Amino acid sequence: MPSPTLEINYYELDAVEAPRILSAVRLAIKMASPIVKKVLDIGTFTGYSSLAMAEALPEDGRVVTLERQEEAAKMAAENWASSPHVGKIESRVGEAQALLQELASQGESFDLVFLDVDKPGYFALYQTLMETGLLRVGGLLAVDNTMYKGEELTGERLSVNGEGARALNAGLLADDRVLQVMLPLRDGLTLAFRQH
Ligand SMILES: C[S@@+](CC[C@H](N)C(=O)[O-])C[C@H]1O[C@@H](n2cnc3c(N)ncnc32)[C@H](O)[C@@H]1O
Repeated sequence: MPSPTLEINYYELDAVEAPRILSAVRLAIKMASPIVKKVLDIGTFTGYSSLAMAEALPEDGRVVTLERQEEAAKMAAENWASSPHVGKIESRVGEAQALLQELASQGESFDLVFLDVDKPGYFALYQTLMETGLLRVGGLLAVDNTMYKGEELTGERLSVNGEGARALNAGLLADDRVLQVMLPLRDGLTLAFRQH
């Protein structure tokens, strides 16, 4: 009889594993408390990551979350509405790259950035975070799905998302401004500490 684990599809796996990814990120926030106060959440969707991180922040902490889909941002706002931590969350709607430029022009910088959007854009978003100083020196970047669906491990041809994850991984490896580790949680959670 096949293992039930092998029968669950990716979305079910995501539902099971997503809390583990955010547990690791929340742990990083707590360990660095009270130094981590400003968090940037790139990819809001249901608002799960925003709220999970807001809960881990001190009272004066703040999460800015970015989402291209108006409907998703609205659903997320409904999901946060009854939380005592809702006041820590600011939602911005638009393309992540444009919103990053807007945040940089407003002089923002963040202690922790959680990157979880379409993978083809990962490396360009990373470069913007570094070049603008949105990820401050001494800050931590957490990136989800960096071993996208395990594609590189199975030897199959990479999808565009797999290529996007690989481009970021190569960029991080070549960048001596960051120290990094890829944790084998779900399909890879990379933590990168900005040292200069
Ligand atoms: C994987 S979901 C985010 C999940 C969320 N971080 C969590 O853990 O609860 C990715 C979201 O990012 C949005 N997205 C994807 N690419 C984007 C981009 N380039 N700019 C803005 N939002 C984007 C999608 O619409 C989607 O809602």
